[in-house]
Amino acid sequence: MTHTLIQQLPKAELHIHIEGSFEPELMFHIAQRNHIQLPYHSIDEVKQAYNFHNLQSFLDIYYAGAGVLLHEQDFYDLAWAYFEKCHADNVVHTEIFFDPQTHTDRGVAFATVINGLYRACQDAKNRLGISSSLIMCFLRHLSQEKAFETLKQAEAFRDKIIGVGLDSSEVGHPPNKFKEVFAEARRQGYRIVAHAGEEGPPEYIWEALNLLHVERVDHGVRCEEDNALMERLKADDMPLTVCPLSNLKLCVVNDMRLHNIKRLLEQGLCVTVNSDDPAYFGGYMNDNFTAIAQSLELSDQQLKQLAINSFKASFLSDEQKQMWIGRINAL
Ligand code: ADE
Ligand code: ZN
Repeated sequence: MTHTLIQQLPKAELHIHIEGSFEPELMFHIAQRNHIQLPYHSIDEVKQAYNFHNLQSFLDIYYAGAGVLLHEQDFYDLAWAYFEKCHADNVVHTEIFFDPQTHTDRGVAFATVINGLYRACQDAKNRLGISSSLIMCFLRHLSQEKAFETLKQAEAFRDKIIGVGLDSSEVGHPPNKFKEVFAEARRQGYRIVAHAGEEGPPEYIWEALNLLHVERVDHGVRCEEDNALMERLKADDMPLTVCPLSNLKLCVVNDMRLHNIKRLLEQGLCVTVNSDDPAYFGGYMNDNFTAIAQSLELSDQQLKQLAINSFKASFLSDEQKQMWIGRINAL
C-alpha cells in the first residue's frame, strides 16, 4: 500500500550529485573505454569499499570514481543512466548538481562536462518527459578564488545552468568563506543553494541564510540544535533538501528510526526527500522514501506532503508547481 503510493507519487529531486549516481558497472565500463585502471578488480570489490564513517571517507572515494570521466559522451552516459532511474521511480523533475572543479582540475574542459550533461537533459525531456535543470557546485575545500574562476568559465554556458551551490568537506569551510563569489553569482541571476548543517554546526546554516542568501538549504538536519534557527526556517518557509540514506551511510544518524525528518515535517518545516549520491548510499528516490516510511511510520498524508514540498521547493514556474501539486492531491 505504502509502496504503491510512493511509486505513484510524482516527485521532484532537488539534491542529487550527478557524480554520485555513478554506478560501479558503468564506472568499470567507462574506465575500460578510456583505458584507465581502477584500483579495484571487480564490481564486488568496489561495493565493499563503500563503507563510510563520515563525509570525508566518502568524498575520497567519490572523487576517485569521477576521475574516469573524460569525454562528453562519458558525462552524457552518466546523466542518462540517472534519468532512467528517475523514470523508474516516477521522478518527473530533477535539479542536478555537478562539480565542475572535480573535472576541470584534471584537465577536462568545462564545455565537455556541461555539453554532455545538458544533452542528456534534453533527451530526458524528449524521450522520458522528465524536466531538469543543472546547478553547479563550488568545492568548499578549495579557495574562493578558484570558485571565482569557475564562475567565469560558466559565463559561456549561462543559459544551461540555473543555479550555484556549495558542496564537499563542510567542517572548517563555512559559507562565510564564499560570500563574495555567491554575491557575484546572485548578481548574475543564478538561483542560490548551499550544503549546510550536514556535519557542520547550526552556525553554518545561519551563514548560508544571512551571508549567501540561499533559497534552499541542502541537508540542514542539524538545525534542530538551535531553536532560534528553527523559528527562522519556519518563518521563511525555507526548504531543506534532506537525504535520509546518505545521512545513515555517512553516520550523520546511527539508525533510521532516529532520523529527524518526521519531526521536522511535523513542526511545519518544508523538508524534501532526496538521494544525494545514490550509487554510493544504497538507493534512489523511492528507496529513500521507503526507508523513512518504514522506519518512521509515515502516514500517506505525510508521504504526499513530502512530494508536494519537493515541487514547492523547486525552481519550476508557479504554473508547473501547481500542476504537479494538483496531481498529488488528486491521488
Ligand atoms: N558531494 C557529494 N555529496 C556530498 C555531500 N553529501 N555533502 C557534501 N558534499 C558532497
Ligand atoms: Zn549533497
